[in-house]
Amino acid sequence: MKALLLAGGLGTRLRPLTENLPKPMAPIANRPWLEHLITHLREQGVDHFVMAARHCSDVIRRHFGDGRRWGVKIEYAVEPFPMGTAGAIKNAERFFDDCFLVFNADIVHLPELIPLLEFHRQHGGIATIALTEVDDPTSYGVVEQDDTGRILRFVEKPRPEEAPSNRINAGLYILEPDVFRYIPAQREVSIERETFPRLIQESAGVYGMISRGYWRDMGTPSRYRQVHWDVLDRRFPLPMQGRQVQPGVWAGEDVEFGKGVLFVPPVLIGNKVKIGDQAVIGPYAVIGDNCRIGARVHCSNSILWDRSVVRDGSRLSNSIFGYRTVAPAGEVFKNSIINDPGEVMQA
Ligand code: GTP
Repeated sequence: MKALLLAGGLGTRLRPLTENLPKPMAPIANRPWLEHLITHLREQGVDHFVMAARHCSDVIRRHFGDGRRWGVKIEYAVEPFPMGTAGAIKNAERFFDDCFLVFNADIVHLPELIPLLEFHRQHGGIATIALTEVDDPTSYGVVEQDDTGRILRFVEKPRPEEAPSNRINAGLYILEPDVFRYIPAQREVSIERETFPRLIQESAGVYGMISRGYWRDMGTPSRYRQVHWDVLDRRFPLPMQGRQVQPGVWAGEDVEFGKGVLFVPPVLIGNKVKIGDQAVIGPYAVIGDNCRIGARVHCSNSILWDRSVVRDGSRLSNSIFGYRTVAPAGEVFKNSIINDPGEVMQA
């Protein structure tokens, strides 16, 4: 089975972290999200991926190459200009001559593919959209379906009393290659705003099926942080790297703690991290590989990407530090999102 991963957006809402990084490459629990996704999909039988990329596409290519290290084949369809979600699919047309999967690669979920694929084969339409149920559908495109699961219309950002359901597009599609005929070439096209409404209007057969389990879009700093807290609370069962050194505290290889370090769970620490004397780490702290944490640092509700340095006595709360951020001694970082735009992620 082949999958197209849409990973070419600008990720503007997650800036500055995405200034030199495609959003799906942002780490979740210390590994690029795309790596978790590809590993999960490989286990579900997907062995061939096409990366629809544009913004910082080199970062993805340097990291994954031809995919051999992950036991899959990865090819690239890089766009000459921002083509939008359907434009990116059209740009990858040459790779697909059979039914294929499409993922918004910035959605954090571990979907089960078999029920969706079975449903797709049974209904025989041109597209299946995986749906997820949300408590408050008012900021999403909500679907109205008939009894067979056929989608009748999308209602964009409905008022609570106007929402026909609480089911929204989960950013995972199964498409027949016939869909390429409905997408104009060489211009920006949105699948949500243009292609799906057109397919519905022309009765091409667009169906929706609920994909159960954890689902979150990581597109804003608060949602990005929440995904991490859900991992730490095990509400999102992402495999953890490292071992539990005390209840709710996971640590990788070669971690050095100074004297009197206090961990307040839940905490995740990567490989080769050094933590100075009397530091207080947690609750809700994720510290990437090769980070250096000084003495008496307090770090809670914060995420540090690999190779960050926090010097003695600094305090971090509710903050996110991009790769190799250096925090001077004795500073207070509250609600700070820092990324040095000169730094490019190393694969
Ligand atoms: P914002 O700028 O914050 O809205 O983020 P975004 O545009 O990167 O993401 P959005 O949620 O709008 O897009 C959903 C998914 O589609 C993400 O995984 C994006 O990387 C991807 N995507 C959006 N636009 C494009 C595009 O023009 N080309 C490609 N290849 N992917 C896209």
